[in-house]
Amino acid sequence: MPETYPFNRRRFVAGAAGLVVGPMLVAPDGALAHVPSTAGGPLPTGLFTLGVASGDPLPDAVVIWTRLAPQPLAGGGMPDRAVPVSWEVADDEGFRRVRRRGVATAASRSGHSVHVDVQGLRPDTVYWYRFRAGSEVSPVGRTRTAPASHARPRQLRFAIASCQNYESGYYTAYRHLSEEDLAFVAFLGDYIYEGRPNPAALRAHEGTDEPYTLEQYRNRHAQYRSDVDLQAAHAAFPWIVTLDDHEVDNNWADEIPQDPDLQTPEAFRARRIAAFQAYYEHMPLRRTSLPRELDMKLYRRLRFGDLASVHVLDTRQYRSDQPATIEAAMDPSLSMTGPEQERWLVRGMRSSGTGWNLLANQVMWASNDRRAGPEKVFDLDNWDGYRVQRRRLLEFFGSGQVDNPVVLTGDRHCTWVCDLRPDFDDPSSPVVGAEITGTSIASGGNANPASFHATYDPIMAESPHWKYIDNQRGYVVCDVTPDRMLSSLRLVDTVWAPTANVRTAAQFVVEAGRPGISVVSQEATPPAALRSAGPVFPVDDDQDSHPLQ
Ligand SMILES: [Fe+2]
Repeated sequence: MPETYPFNRRRFVAGAAGLVVGPMLVAPDGALAHVPSTAGGPLPTGLFTLGVASGDPLPDAVVIWTRLAPQPLAGGGMPDRAVPVSWEVADDEGFRRVRRRGVATAASRSGHSVHVDVQGLRPDTVYWYRFRAGSEVSPVGRTRTAPASHARPRQLRFAIASCQNYESGYYTAYRHLSEEDLAFVAFLGDYIYEGRPNPAALRAHEGTDEPYTLEQYRNRHAQYRSDVDLQAAHAAFPWIVTLDDHEVDNNWADEIPQDPDLQTPEAFRARRIAAFQAYYEHMPLRRTSLPRELDMKLYRRLRFGDLASVHVLDTRQYRSDQPATIEAAMDPSLSMTGPEQERWLVRGMRSSGTGWNLLANQVMWASNDRRAGPEKVFDLDNWDGYRVQRRRLLEFFGSGQVDNPVVLTGDRHCTWVCDLRPDFDDPSSPVVGAEITGTSIASGGNANPASFHATYDPIMAESPHWKYIDNQRGYVVCDVTPDRMLSSLRLVDTVWAPTANVRTAAQFVVEAGRPGISVVSQEATPPAALRSAGPVFPVDDDQDSHPLQ
């Protein structure tokens, strides 16, 4: 008989009671055991300013994370020595039933971050976790393991999020996201923005310039991670993260920066190494993603029983440089993924054994013309710039070898819900899949839907594969069953105030076995965003939204 997913809590507790565990290592009051620090004097206070997180859930394991940073914007503020950090994982929020515990080391060379790959957990199960360093105990996080690979879950609900420019708005969307009922959050890129501080912004970046060094990237990540709504979203669910461009440099491609005239190859390689190291230090990633010199393995696969696979892509680290023209974009040698990752993706989708094949992807696959009329204008940083590879992969989607492919995308700072066809210019080209590009958490600030629709509605009339477009802030909740994937666009009414209301603005469905996506419902008249509710400063709604100077 198929199991229900997520577990009913009562049933879960009954099932977990049979677990064999070691002796309790917590004090009678439930506090974590004190682990004496190594020599070197007392630790600073305020160690857990960045909260806790978990990620990459497997049926029997999950990564839990924290970083000791009493002075988050000044390099962390820890003494230059290794510090023991005890951790525990329990199946109750009060930590009366501790299932796993241990002691990790927060080392200077990794920014006093802690990544524990907690093993021996039960599938499909909610756990709570916390850390202790010195006399301080971290906030409590909640996480959830994946169903067993042979399980047949009837449901999987998760959210996608992306693009959280700190300067562009508050994370009001995360406040609501953390209250959803989710198995995980897939973060699709632009976790930080590398822009220099803009004093006119809603809340300015730290520092005085773009980050280049490891300490500067640490400070930028720490500033973002100090946001309480972002911390709440991390503490509520495991995250499956991948990066896009702004974690390093706008529109970088492999070893090529945005502006090769201003950054030498050597300087950019050093910058990429620093950015990757800081990224790893702040993300709940497994050790297989530990950076090695210039490389950090982020493409990977997670499986949720026989229901869904999540194929996490990295479309920055191995890509060819962006072409300059549409003609150049037809060059068959251009690759968004590199050949090795493409082979990994095709093999993994073909043999996944799951009813749904979800791609955690960065930039848009669907053709995205920016100009009405016969002339076409594309952002060639997107898959529009890598057309031969895109067509090859979309023909594979339509080959009958892969079940229900759906691409989940960030980057665009807008919602763009599309059918996928191998040839977007040919109306007879078959629909082979669907793409949901899920707006942004903050980037772009409060939107102006009227001007957006004035620009894009005429283009939509020429783009039959576009099913729904919108430019307001929020996230998407995806609810997957064996029969269908129902996705809800959750929009907040402002990011220019600390709190906001959330609403379901539209819903979209993909039926299993029927490629393509359709709009189930949408609000009749989008409420006007509260553009006057904050310190208005110019933002670019369209792309990588550095506020205009
Ligand atoms: Fe972005």
